Amino acid sequence: MTTLINSESLSQKNKSFIQQLQDISNQFSELEKSNQMKAQLIAKWMEETPLDFFNELRDRQPIFAAPSFIIVTRYADVMEVFNNDEIFTIDIFKDKVLRDIGPFLLSMNNSPEYERQKSILRLAFPREDANNFHKIVVEESHKLLEKIAASETFDLVSQYARLLPALAIRRYLGLEEISPEKIVQWTRPLFRDVFANIPNDPQVKQEAAAAHDEAAPLIDNLIARRHEYLKKNPQQPAITVLDRLLTMQAIPATYMSDREISNCLLGFFMGTIDLTAIAIIKAVVDLLKRPTILAAAIEAAKQQSDEAIAAYVWEALRFNPPGTGLFRLCKQDYTLAGGTERETHIKAGTLIYSASLAAMHDPAHIDRPTEFRVGRPQQSYLFFESGIHTCFGKYFSLVQIPLAVKVLLPLGKLEIAGKMTKDRGFPESLPIKVVKSVK
Ligand code: HEM
Repeated sequence: MTTLINSESLSQKNKSFIQQLQDISNQFSELEKSNQMKAQLIAKWMEETPLDFFNELRDRQPIFAAPSFIIVTRYADVMEVFNNDEIFTIDIFKDKVLRDIGPFLLSMNNSPEYERQKSILRLAFPREDANNFHKIVVEESHKLLEKIAASETFDLVSQYARLLPALAIRRYLGLEEISPEKIVQWTRPLFRDVFANIPNDPQVKQEAAAAHDEAAPLIDNLIARRHEYLKKNPQQPAITVLDRLLTMQAIPATYMSDREISNCLLGFFMGTIDLTAIAIIKAVVDLLKRPTILAAAIEAAKQQSDEAIAAYVWEALRFNPPGTGLFRLCKQDYTLAGGTERETHIKAGTLIYSASLAAMHDPAHIDRPTEFRVGRPQQSYLFFESGIHTCFGKYFSLVQIPLAVKVLLPLGKLEIAGKMTKDRGFPESLPIKVVKSVK
C-alpha cells in the first residue's frame, strides 16, 4: 500500500539535505517506507531548490545513490556519462519516443540507422541556416510584440515565450499551415511523456497519444499536398526543411520515406517549444531579479548587439537552466570516475541522473561559479548536453533564445505582476507589467 507523506513537513530548512535524508534512515526501520519518503524529498528538492541540493551533493557525495537512481554532479562525471553513449543509453525514453513520435533520432542509440537519419536531417536543417532563422525570429517576435505593446500587462508564457518558437519553427520547417496554438498544445504532452514520465503514468501516456493522433495525420496531409505542389512547380527552390527533404527523396542516399519525414517534423516540434519557452521565461525572470545586471542587459539589448545580450542570457540560465540534467540508463556494469576517490561501480540497469546544472557550478570546471559573470566561454554552459545526442537545434537555439530576450527587454520597465501558474511543473502563465515611461 502507498503511504502518502507530506514532504513539506519533512523538509527542515536548517539541516543539510544529506542530513535530512540520514534522519529519515534513522527514524524508519522499514526500508520501503524510508525510501519512499526520501524519494519524495529528493523529487521536491530537484524541482524547487535544485542548485542548492546539487551543490551540496557535488561537494559532499558527488556520486549519490538516491532510492531509485544515482545522481552525478561533478563536471568530469557528468561529461563521462554524456560522452559514453554506448554505456549510458537513452533506453529510458526510447520506447516513449517510438510510441509518441515514431522512429526518430531520440529513439535511437549510436547505430548506423542513427547516423543515416542524422546525416540526412543535417543536409535539410544545416547549421548555416542559423542566419536565416535569425531573420525569422526577429520578424515573428516583432509581430508578437506589436500585440503585446498595446497593453500594460501581458502574459510572458502564453502570449510570447511559447508562441514565438512555434511561429519560428513552423515557418523554418515549412509547416506554416499548422496553427502555432496547435503546435503549443501538442508538444507539451509529447515532451512530458518522453522526458518527464519516468513512472509511466497512464494518463500522461494517453495525453501524448492523443496529441500524436491529432498531429501526425495533419503533418502527413501537408506532406502529401506539398508533393502535389512540388510536382506542379518543379522549379520551386527548396528553402524549407520539408521541401528539401522531399526533393532529396529523388536520390537513394538521401531518401527518407514520407512516414519518416513526418516523424522527424513532429520530433522537431516536440524538441523545440517547451525548452525554448522555459529558457526565455527563466532568463527574463532571473534577469528581473538582478536590477544592476538587468540595467546592463537592457543597455546591451538597446545597442543591438546579439552577442552582448547573449552573454547575459546564458549566464542567467546557468543559475536557472531550462533543464537541470538528463536521465540515462546504464547498459552494462561500469566504473564511473575510475581512479578517483569517488570511483563508483554502477550496475547494468541502473538509472543515472546526470546533473548538468551541478556541473555548470563545479569550481573544477568554472571559475568562481557563484558569481554572475558575463563573457564566460560557451563551453561553460551545458544546456544542450554533450555527446552523440547533443541538441540538434543547438545553433538555432543559440540564436533564438537571446534574441527573444533582446527584443523584449527594451519594451519598458518590466515587472513581474503576479505568480507564475504551472501545469504539472510546466509554466502556464506569468503576468508582466510594462512601465513605459522609464528613460
Ligand atoms: C530550434 C529548437 C530546437 C530543436 C529543433 C531541437 C531539436 C533536438 C533534437 C532533434 C534532439 C535529439 C538529438 C539527437 O538525439 O541526436 C535534441 C536534443 C536535445 N535538446 Fe534540443 N532542440 C531545440 C531546442 C532546444 C533547447 C532550447 C534546449 C535547451 C536549452 C534543448 C536541449 C536539448 C537537450 C539537452 C537534448 C539532449 C536530449 C537527450 O540526449 O536526452 N533543445 N534537440
